[in-house]
Amino acid sequence: MNSEIYRETILEHYANPVNAGDIPDADATARDFNPSCGDVVEIQAKFSDGIVKDIKFRGEGCAISQSSVDILLGIVKNKTIAEVENFTTEDFLEILGIELSPLRLKCALLGLNTLKTAVHTYLTRV
Ligand code: FES
Repeated sequence: MNSEIYRETILEHYANPVNAGDIPDADATARDFNPSCGDVVEIQAKFSDGIVKDIKFRGEGCAISQSSVDILLGIVKNKTIAEVENFTTEDFLEILGIELSPLRLKCALLGLNTLKTAVHTYLTRV
């Protein structure tokens, strides 16, 4: 994919997120923000038999932070908790496939950091 297609993908997820919303009976909720801009992501997740059964987000922020979390949740939905725990920053950046400045890197990883917190919150409770 060339950078123009990546750009379009980011803008499409930003305009029409497929994983935005709430899970009223979520097993874990985590919220994080980017201190340099205040942009925020909250993730709610439902787990069953060690699988991410449902996962949604709410957030406010730049196109990269919000589209990245939308893409991320599409990747981890129906994966095992172990797979999510082992999913690295490098794995995610490879899938995103865009060149990011250090500032933009924080935007792109806001959702992943929040996801990891949600999983750890859940695991410390079960
Ligand atoms: Fe705030 Fe991107 S500018 S997360």
